[in-house]
Amino acid sequence: MKQNIKKIALLTGGGDCSGLNAVIRAVVRTAILKYGYEVVGFMGGYHGLYLDEYMDMTISTVSGIFHQGGTILKNSNKDNLFNFRMEDEFGNVVYKDVSDVAIANLKKHGVDALVIIGGDGTLTSARDFARKGINVVGIPKTIDNDVPATDITFGYRTALDHIMLALDALHTTAFSHDRVMILEVMGRNAGWLALEGGISGSADVILIPEIPYDIQKVAQKVIDRYKRGSKFTILCVSEGAKPIDGDVTVKMIDKTSADSVRLGGVGELIGEQLRKLVSPVTGQDVRYTNLGYIQRGGVTNAFDRVLGTKYGSYAVDMIARGDFGQMVTVKNDRMSTVFIEDVVGGGKMGETSRGGARRVNPQGDLVNAAKDIGVVFGD
Ligand code: F6P
Repeated sequence: MKQNIKKIALLTGGGDCSGLNAVIRAVVRTAILKYGYEVVGFMGGYHGLYLDEYMDMTISTVSGIFHQGGTILKNSNKDNLFNFRMEDEFGNVVYKDVSDVAIANLKKHGVDALVIIGGDGTLTSARDFARKGINVVGIPKTIDNDVPATDITFGYRTALDHIMLALDALHTTAFSHDRVMILEVMGRNAGWLALEGGISGSADVILIPEIPYDIQKVAQKVIDRYKRGSKFTILCVSEGAKPIDGDVTVKMIDKTSADSVRLGGVGELIGEQLRKLVSPVTGQDVRYTNLGYIQRGGVTNAFDRVLGTKYGSYAVDMIARGDFGQMVTVKNDRMSTVFIEDVVGGGKMGETSRGGARRVNPQGDLVNAAKDIGVVFGD
């Protein structure tokens, strides 16, 4: 149904990734050029919506940002306005629902619809604003590529490029020193980055959360390669990888964040274990690299620029049609929509939290193709 829209707002929540600026540019250009809407951008995700920190968006504010990683609107992954962390008059940490302050700010600006760009935490709040009657449209974002209901999120492919180039670089040094090289990559509890990054960077061993590993099998692969004459081995390890008889490796707990667990360190752990299991047999040194936040930054690649453009322009079309409370999706290369409730929980698909994340199928084509060419997953 055609809507009477004059002004829209947008914000970027959660961790940043490449392609956010491409989405912002597409939203602003489509809103202004195709529909004649005014656009305001709130700064620092929901935090800016709460504090009324904003930027009036014009064609010139989005000029020259297309290729840049990050977001000109800034990110925050700490601000759930429905359970907002603040201090009371005695300095104690308390949590309050301050969503009405945000809604009052939207009203003050005359905003008719809000575009929310983010991952599951950000989209959960988007669902909650929709439940309070705000005209919300969601755009899925994460390098982890784990948002349910969509085939691909922007930022993922640029992160894959970083992983591939890192593995290419590790190959030459691993070859020169006859070493075992371990690269730990991001992805939380989904193994997409390690799997596709590992395949594209020609890793010999790929360890992902969806396939718990047996360290003995990993060690055997390294030893077998050495005996065959391949005196170096490359491992691509997801930060969420875990052994068959153990759990994930936690780097830290960030109590200020709604999603407090930060994974990290499993690559180093595996390095120590391989040093004991492999080095006495082959004499190889083992080295470990954590690719870290490099995966989230840098120049946005061609794929993510195009995908970000498609997501952004489609989101504004949704506003014009009145498809509120919904998120843009890509399914089999076609743009479509799904109710945010069905993505983050509360709707047909049930659960809230990352338990509902889209994860690698251990019996799927990608894993099978990798196994066919000799990649070991430690299972
Ligand atoms: O969800 C994206 C992501 O980059 C994960 O891959 C990683 O585990 C996490 O965010 C890191 O979060 P933070 O920026 O809070 O350290």
